[in-house]
Amino acid sequence: MIDENSPQDPTRRAALAGGAAIATGAAAMSLGATAASAQQSEAAGVLAGQTVFITGAARGIGRAIAVGMAEAGANVVAYDVLEDLPGFPIPMATPADMAETRAGVEAAGVGFMSFAGDIRSLEAQRAAVAEAEAALGPVGIVVANAGVNTNAGFLTEDEAAWEQHWEVLTDVNVKGTAATLRATVPAMAERGAGRVILISSTFGRQGNASNPAYIASKWATMGMMKSLAIEVGKSGITVNAVSPTAVQTGFGGPRTQEQIDGSNEWLAANYHQLDVGLLQPEDIAGSAVFLASPAAAMITGSSIDVSAGAAARYTG
Ligand SMILES: NC(=O)c1ccc[n+]([C@@H]2O[C@H](COP(=O)([O-])OP(=O)(O)OC[C@H]3O[C@@H](n4cnc5c(N)ncnc54)[C@H](O)[C@@H]3O)[C@@H](O)[C@H]2O)c1
Repeated sequence: MIDENSPQDPTRRAALAGGAAIATGAAAMSLGATAASAQQSEAAGVLAGQTVFITGAARGIGRAIAVGMAEAGANVVAYDVLEDLPGFPIPMATPADMAETRAGVEAAGVGFMSFAGDIRSLEAQRAAVAEAEAALGPVGIVVANAGVNTNAGFLTEDEAAWEQHWEVLTDVNVKGTAATLRATVPAMAERGAGRVILISSTFGRQGNASNPAYIASKWATMGMMKSLAIEVGKSGITVNAVSPTAVQTGFGGPRTQEQIDGSNEWLAANYHQLDVGLLQPEDIAGSAVFLASPAAAMITGSSIDVSAGAAARYTG
């Protein structure tokens, strides 16, 4: 017989398998300009009745994950800066982008709320989570996805670009991601269940000459993932990463046609072992949904590399 304090106790295992499955009891209501909709989830699926908080959800990989989670039955809380970062050269998502995310999520028949805010603000994320939880129920899944990229090698002559590269990327990708976790994970720990998914990169697995701060930030994402997995494992929370290869999004500026269609020789020879060019955001979403699902209950401290085979060359 297995005693209830044992890690083999069936109740403990069932709680882990349920993951973030906590009754939400979301009510139909409108919360004004920041709330696109907050309706009772009608969707059936492995995540039915749960609520997920996703940063950088207005476009790209974040949007695809939002729609993927919605199609699996989860209510979606989408958080995105929705304005350009002062002095930063890459355009951020717009309110029109967020409207597209909203349409994709609502088509799945789940509740949706959106918030405009920077992940560098812990306070803004806490406020968003509190407002969303009042309408949609406890946030049991968090996807820390928002991130930025620029290029400036160690030897670049452009000192201003170098300063910005290290300052903004460290602030957003590292400390901002940590703030997302701090805004969401303590309540999961109190409830004794939760799923945390960080979006790292194949660049969190290797070096690259043109964007060392980005590389450092994505290795840091792996470090945060593994450290948090240790800190909250006994609280019933799993913490994992999804590490995509190059994906066709607005990230880091425009892509070349060669990259997009896979005719780029370097990409084909050194990177993707599958016969594809850039992946699509939807190619990444399934892994995040899986990590939030009961099937992934015993996976924590790990990364799923959605790398089209790039991982075959560089990870142990
Ligand atoms: N696209 C790729 O090739 C690729 C590859 C590997 C990993 N990734 C990772 O995937 C994640 C998503 O990237 P994407 O390709 O969808 O890029 P994207 O630029 O299309 O989307 C990023 C989203 O994050 C938002 N955002 C950026 N900074 C923010 C901030 N400070 N606060 C709140 N929101 C902010 C943007 O407005 C945008 O909606 C990033 O973490 C990135 O590092 C991307």
